[in-house]
Amino acid sequence: MQTMLKLVLGFSVLTSLFLTSSAQNCSNYTFNSSRVFSKCRDLPHLSSHLYWTFNQSSGQLDIAYRHDGINSTNKWVAWALNPTGSLTAAMPGAQALVAILQNGTTRAYTSPISSYSTQLQAGNLSFPVTGLTATYQNSEIIIFATLSLNRNVSSMIHTWQEGMVSGSTPQAHAMSSDNLNAKETLNLV
Ligand SMILES: *[C@@H]1O[C@H](CO)[C@@H](O)[C@H](O)[C@H]1NC(C)=O
Ligand SMILES: *[C@@H]1O[C@H](CO)[C@@H](O)[C@H](O)[C@H]1NC(C)=O
Ligand SMILES: *[C@@H]1O[C@H](CO)[C@@H](O)[C@H](O)[C@H]1NC(C)=O
Ligand SMILES: *[C@@H]1O[C@H](CO)[C@@H](O)[C@H](O)[C@H]1NC(C)=O
Ligand SMILES: *[C@@H]1O[C@H](CO)[C@@H](O)[C@H](O)[C@H]1NC(C)=O
Ligand SMILES: *[C@@H]1O[C@H](CO)[C@@H](O)[C@H](O)[C@H]1NC(C)=O
Ligand SMILES: *[C@@H]1O[C@H](CO)[C@@H](O)[C@H](O)[C@H]1NC(C)=O
Ligand SMILES: *[C@@H]1O[C@H](CO)[C@@H](O)[C@H](O)[C@H]1NC(C)=O
Repeated sequence: MQTMLKLVLGFSVLTSLFLTSSAQNCSNYTFNSSRVFSKCRDLPHLSSHLYWTFNQSSGQLDIAYRHDGINSTNKWVAWALNPTGSLTAAMPGAQALVAILQNGTTRAYTSPISSYSTQLQAGNLSFPVTGLTATYQNSEIIIFATLSLNRNVSSMIHTWQEGMVSGSTPQAHAMSSDNLNAKETLNLV
């Protein structure tokens, strides 16, 4: 009985490891739009993947933030850089790219976050953003954008999130450990 239990446990651990590694592989993903990025990273929380190409001498950062497993409408997802925050307080100061999925279509905009009580209001970020679009297909929301950062920057805090939308207003994200830990220092180069 105990051996059986161990086997079952061992199997489920292996299965989840396998599922994790097979589901989490940013590097063999092909963008529909034939966009190519030089780096990618499977983010450790919230089914998210980040792709980027960074030109350190110009500060130009092309990104795609891909959030999979989205199968309901009235959702928001966001990815943000935080040039001024810390890992313990990554939300105030976050410069966010937001995508809202409603009725099967997406709307993307920028939102500078000044406090924990944000409703993700639209506004300009502390750096220029061009080419901001979001797509929804195959249960994935993808945000594309080009950011003009300071020259010579090499790493920055980034954070990402998801939540529900009521009416047209993004609602607070859940407080699970996955939500609360969706932040890290991103090494751009
Ligand atoms: C990427 O690789 C994983 C296994 O590592 C596989 O499950 C998945 O189907 C692959 N995706 C593509 C688009 O090739
Ligand atoms: C991810 O996909 C690439 C390309 O197919 C492959 O070389 C690599 O081994 C895969 N990694 C994992 C963890 O599955
Ligand atoms: C990076 O930016 C510099 C300065 O604008 C430019 O001269 C160079 O061609 C860019 N490199 C690439 C690979 O685009
Ligand atoms: C929707 O996605 C969640 C995970 O994000 C999954 O648990 C659920 O089974 C999915 N529902 C459908 C109808 O696919
Ligand atoms: C979504 O579709 C429903 C029904 O067609 C409509 O009442 C509602 O206004 C739409 N919402 C948005 C945000 O477009
Ligand atoms: C955002 O910037 C644009 C030009 O860069 C300006 O026209 C617009 O008024 C700004 N919006 C806000 C809310 O400051
Ligand atoms: C992917 O490409 C197909 C065909 O070219 C197009 O119809 C579809 O809208 C594209 N999807 C996205 C998410 O860009
Ligand atoms: C970027 O770094 C290079 C080499 O370290 C330096 O020569 C240059 O002045 C720096 N540029 C800026 C804008 O800080």
